[in-house]
Amino acid sequence: MTAAPKILAINGSERDGNTADVLRHAAAHAAERGVEFEIVDLRNVRMERCGPCGDCNDRTFVCAVRDDIPSVVGRMIDADGIVFAAPVHGFGTASLMQTFIERAGVGYLRFNRPLSNKVAGVISVARRYSAGEVWAQLTVNALLNRMILVGSGFPATVHALHRGDALKDIEGLKNVERLVDRMADMMALLREHRELTGRDALSSNDVNERVGLPLNELAGTK
Ligand SMILES: Cc1cc2nc3c(=O)[nH]c(=O)nc-3n(C[C@H](O)[C@H](O)[C@H](O)COP(=O)(O)O)c2cc1C
Repeated sequence: MTAAPKILAINGSERDGNTADVLRHAAAHAAERGVEFEIVDLRNVRMERCGPCGDCNDRTFVCAVRDDIPSVVGRMIDADGIVFAAPVHGFGTASLMQTFIERAGVGYLRFNRPLSNKVAGVISVARRYSAGEVWAQLTVNALLNRMILVGSGFPATVHALHRGDALKDIEGLKNVERLVDRMADMMALLREHRELTGRDALSSNDVNERVGLPLNELAGTK
């Protein structure tokens, strides 16, 4: 029997707060669609900040800093879809998500883009200000990793200040539900194509944008 499709959500909040509530809402909706929905709370992940070496652009192998990022990257590789969810802090993404993007993206994912052709969804949570900017920042990172983005109608930005407010933003939650629905549909379509043809619907045999080398000629991520 084929395993149920799986979404892994990365939660960039420092607390069990609004972003966590939104992701629990998304998980309940995914369950109705028969989609597994696991959540990685970055606040519980042993994650160092970028170190002083600064040699990322010359490296052809993974980051030298040792922490739990490789295991999160492995879980992303095992999933069919990834949701990136973060609160807005100081008009930008909360620092846990920023650090994750730097450490996972620059430290591990850039070499052979192992998230290529996975389905991506993006959620930002804010009182109000720069919700769109953070949503856009996470979106371009998903696109950089050659993921397939599905729309949710209006962007899945949830407006919430105090704990519990997110669950009152009916329009925001509707956009989150639509996002999950469309991710489920796209994952099913890609899986069906793979089963029928034995190959991915989109090519991943491409050139690495960083150094002009073919993908896979650079170091693996595990
Ligand atoms: C340090 C800090 C900075 C914040 N900066 C912004 C901001 O720039 N724009 C905004 O709309 N909300 C801002 N907020 C509000 C949070 O985005 C909002 O409370 C959100 O619901 C928090 O999500 P969480 O409970 O998942 O952490 C900030 C909150 C904190 C703690």
